[in-house]
Amino acid sequence: MAASAHLQVHGPTLTLRFPAAADAPALLQLASDPAVTRWFSWGPYTSLDQPLGYIERQEQRRTDGVQLDLLVVHREAGPVGVIGLSELSVRDRRAMIGTWLGRQWWGTGVNAEAKALVFHLGFSWCGLVRIGAYSDVANARSRTALSKVGLLHEGILRGWHRHGVEQKDVNVHGLLREDWLTSRLHDVPVRVEGAVPPAFVVG
Ligand SMILES: CC(C)(COP(=O)(O)OP(=O)(O)OC[C@H]1O[C@@H](n2cnc3c(N)ncnc32)[C@H](O)[C@@H]1OP(=O)(O)O)[C@@H](O)C(=O)NCCC(=O)NCCS
Repeated sequence: MAASAHLQVHGPTLTLRFPAAADAPALLQLASDPAVTRWFSWGPYTSLDQPLGYIERQEQRRTDGVQLDLLVVHREAGPVGVIGLSELSVRDRRAMIGTWLGRQWWGTGVNAEAKALVFHLGFSWCGLVRIGAYSDVANARSRTALSKVGLLHEGILRGWHRHGVEQKDVNVHGLLREDWLTSRLHDVPVRVEGAVPPAFVVG
């Protein structure tokens, strides 16, 4: 079994872990809501083979340093969404964060805790010095949510994201390690079990 086969990041109410085939029905249910996938180039899910295909691709993507996606699992309720790192630059020690949660979990504090866990993983375990994020310029909820967890709005990237036949403008947001160290989210208790996939360890 590869060293990266086991990774769990525990917080007060959530655990982040790699998604497995058995999670496909939960992902189908959560991401079959068009409100959840409205800003993405994929979805909404309409059949089980879609989340299954996504889950099957993850191990290779982790190994290749392309994507480190983690299922957000609520202690009592089970899977509630996905959070992950992508666009890793080993040389510049940075990556981008992305999150989606089932509609019933919006506004519940899950986003802030999940972000706190990935910031800890990214800055303390992967060795990143910058975590960035994109939001569609019309996705005001996401822009506000990112600013609430400490990412600064840094500007607009024009024609950045292809969504269907449209080439869309996106906001770019960023958080530096030094700012995370003094932020509220740094105080969230985190326990990491297992190992980060080696391709995602940059420092
Ligand atoms: C983005 C996402 C993860 C954020 O999680 P969340 O739980 O909804 O975020 P929060 O509730 O903590 O923060 C959202 C804030 O935006 C505010 N908000 C909602 N609609 C808004 C609007 N139209 N304009 C400005 N602010 C808005 C909310 O009131 C809240 O602020 P408050 O806590 O001060 O009231 C979640 O909404 C989601 O999964 N959305 C679908 C997928 C998605 O868009 N992902 C991001 C891609 S960039």
